[in-house]
Amino acid sequence: MTIRQLAAAAMLAALASPAAAQDCTIEGDHWSLDDAAVTALYDCMSQKMLDGYTKEGNEIAAAYRDWQPSASRPAVAGPHGERFLMTFANDIAAEQYLAFAQGDFEMPVGSVLAKESIANRDGTARVGPLFIMTKVDDAPEFDNWVYSGVQPNGKELRISQAFCHDCHAAFEDQDSMGYPLEEVRLSGTN
Ligand code: HEC
Repeated sequence: MTIRQLAAAAMLAALASPAAAQDCTIEGDHWSLDDAAVTALYDCMSQKMLDGYTKEGNEIAAAYRDWQPSASRPAVAGPHGERFLMTFANDIAAEQYLAFAQGDFEMPVGSVLAKESIANRDGTARVGPLFIMTKVDDAPEFDNWVYSGVQPNGKELRISQAFCHDCHAAFEDQDSMGYPLEEVRLSGTN
């Protein structure tokens, strides 16, 4: 190595160590973390998610944190890659979504649901995609939902509508919505 390369390597190492120290860790099995541990994990990951999702100017990414959270904390439901999931509902969606209703109803057109996700990579938390569902009036084959997403680097997630809807369609008496796990649901928009 030349002196210059050595200096560059030393600088990189110095830059890398504080970043590594900021990693958010997951102790043990992500299925069995208690409330306090998940809340601490969310606090640690919260800004990283927002920074990632908003990197390329995505409009929903810039807005969803002002929407109504639907759960007291993220939770692992299983689908969506066993990630911790936390869903926000926009103004149009909030009242109906937070009723967690079952039966013959449809979400109002213009409803948007945005769901953050956190993955467990061998004990280190990683930002997962922001998953999005938007209610429209011209997509009857998918129960009038348009599925989309934002990658942790801010770019649009490339997905197939059928891939997302094939699973969501199973929630047929919930307008194709999965809802957060019961133990973390917030009961209303107040
Ligand atoms: C294998 C089944 C499955 C697949 C595939 C799937 N989802 Fe979901 N999704 C769920 C379940 C179950 C929930 C509720 C769990 C939770 O949020 O805690 C959910 C919740 C959501 C929510 C929050 C609103 C709601 O339904 O309560 C959004 C937004 C969402 N998914 C978007 C997507 C998108 C976009 C895709 C495709 C990239 C997708 N999903 C693929 C099962 C699935």
